[in-house]
Parts: sequence; C-alpha cells; structure tokens
Amino acid sequence: MVSYKELGLVNTREMFAKAVAGGYAIPAFNFNNMEQLQAIIQAAAETKSPVILQVSSGARKYANQTLLRYMAEGAVEYAKELGWEHPQICLHLDHGNSFELCKSCVDMGFSSVMIDASSLPYEENIALTKQVVDYAHQYDVTVEAELGVLAGVEDEVSAEESHYTRPEEVIDFATRTGCDSLAISIGTSHGAYKFKPEQCTRDPKTGRLVPPPLAFDVLHEIEKKLPGFPIVLHGSSSVPQEYVDIINEHGGKLPDAVGIPEEQLREASKSAVCKINIDSDSRLAMTAAVRKVFDEKPGEFDPRKYLGPARDEMKKLYMHKIVNVLGSDGKAL
Ligand code: G3H
Ligand code: 13P
Ligand code: ZN
Repeated sequence: MVSYKELGLVNTREMFAKAVAGGYAIPAFNFNNMEQLQAIIQAAAETKSPVILQVSSGARKYANQTLLRYMAEGAVEYAKELGWEHPQICLHLDHGNSFELCKSCVDMGFSSVMIDASSLPYEENIALTKQVVDYAHQYDVTVEAELGVLAGVEDEVSAEESHYTRPEEVIDFATRTGCDSLAISIGTSHGAYKFKPEQCTRDPKTGRLVPPPLAFDVLHEIEKKLPGFPIVLHGSSSVPQEYVDIINEHGGKLPDAVGIPEEQLREASKSAVCKINIDSDSRLAMTAAVRKVFDEKPGEFDPRKYLGPARDEMKKLYMHKIVNVLGSDGKAL
C-alpha cells in the first residue's frame, strides 16, 4: 500500500472547493507517454495551475499502470525543479469500470479515482459507486462518479436528451453514494467527432460545422439541486480547427472533426463545473506537429526531432486551455 501523500500528490477535495467558489475549472489532461507528461507539467508549472493527470484504461494498457504512477511521482519533483514551489498535482484514474481496478489504483498511490458505472441501471450505479467511495475514503482518496450517458465511446448513439443527466436524480445519487464529484452529461462526448454533420449547421463563410449548444439549462438545474457540489465535464476537447487543417494538409484525413466551442467551456468553468477533461485536443496537437515534420523533412528519423515539436505544441495548447479557457492560472501558488 502506497499513499499518494508520500508521493507529494494531492486529492481533488480542496482544489475543487476553491474552483467552485472562484468560478474557474481545473484542467484534467490525459497522459500516455513522457512527452505529454512533460508538456502538462511545464504548462502547469509556468502558469501555477493546479492540474489533474488522468490515466485511462487505454493508457494503462499502452504504457503500464505502474510505470505511469512512477512517472506521476517524478512529475512532482520535475515541477519543483521547474520552480513551482508547491505543486498541486492529482493523479486520477479516468473511467474506472470496476471496484478491483479502483482499489488497485488507490493501493498504488493514485489520489483520485473515477468509477464510471453510468452504463449500469441506476441502483447498480449507486451500489458500485458507494463500494468504491467506502474503500477510497479510508485513504482520503477522492471519488468521481457519473450519472447520465455521453455519446461517443460510452454509447454508439448520438447525444440526445434521453441520455442527459436527469436533475431529479442527482440529490439522491450524491447523498447515497457519498461521491466527491459528479460527471454529468449535457451534450459533450468523447473523441474528435463529437457531433454528426446532421446535428450541426454549417458556417456559410468557412464551410465549418457549427455544433448545437450544450444543455446549460440541465447544468443549471443540477446546480440548483446540489449547490456548490463539484461537477465534471468529460468529452470537452474543442478540436481546434488549426490542428485539423495542419493534419489534413500534411497527408491526414479528418473530415468534419468537430468539438465543443471554447466559449461554452469558458462559460461552464464559471459555474459548478470544476473539472474539465481534455484528451483529444492533445492528440490532435501532437499529430499535427509530427505530420508536419514528416511531410516537410522526410529525411528526419531522430524521434526527438518530431516528438520535441509535438511536446512544444502540446505545451502551447495546455497553457492556452489553462489561461484562456478554464481560468485556473495562478490558483496554485
Ligand atoms: O475518455 C476517454 C479518454 O480520452 C481516454 O481514451 O481510453 O483511448 O486512452 P483512451
Ligand atoms: P475528449 O475526447 O473530448 O478530449 O474527452 C476526454 C475525456 O473525457 C477523458 O475522460
Ligand atoms: Zn471521459
């Protein structure tokens, strides 16, 4: 049993309370490799922003959970080396799907876990979430739960009203599970294709897809039911069109990729939404930078010559999200 406290990591309790009160959101960035982690820590250290490092099941399979945990431990020391005296870094399991997986993360030093039982019937979601909460809280590890179903990886069907979180359930769910934060469904979804073209309109000038707005009415109803309770938004990449263009100009093929407009994320950050999950945007930044090098310098074969620019581009992206979208800069001095 390793406690995250020995590793210099923090749970989400205090950072969420401050974010809800202060009207900003904490960035939750997924990482799978060293370059992503370096870029995240450099951006957080430079802006003095609290940050959540997320490890998904895909990341565990790709990079090994133990290795990722040691990388996060190293990240705390790296942050200090970069001049961030009091780093606030949380190591979080993203979309945990079983008690055993959540327990194994708690036991090995994660400071926060998500139990995503949102695809189960309501009572089963409550039972499994409560089981994880009861275990994790013994070690002061915070737990994120999910109510409602997002389109995309969790569901092949496109987002429609019936999948939104039902505000009438949130009090009962939060009270009976004891979860520390709640991921809700208000129209975001995972990946780079968040909306089908038929769900969007098209900007006549640019020809770009314009997605339907998020269901802010549902968010506000939930806020009224659970005043001050930390709310989480998954699937919140904005799919920057500059990256999509670079990728497509350099041999890629991402037709009609579309995300959540940043002004809507900015608005959400001012509410009880205090954690915003971003993964796809980092993948796009990395892919755009790598494709550009491969296309423009076909003789290049030193990985540092294409992963280096990819890391720089991701750092730029993370800093932009922190400073211009979530407003979490300067909140971890
Ligand atoms: O929620 C989905 C995240 O973007 C992680 O995706 O399982 O492919 O790493 P992944
Ligand atoms: P995106 O695919 O929009 O980046 O969402 C990531 C996410 O929700 C991770 O849990
Ligand atoms: Zn997610």
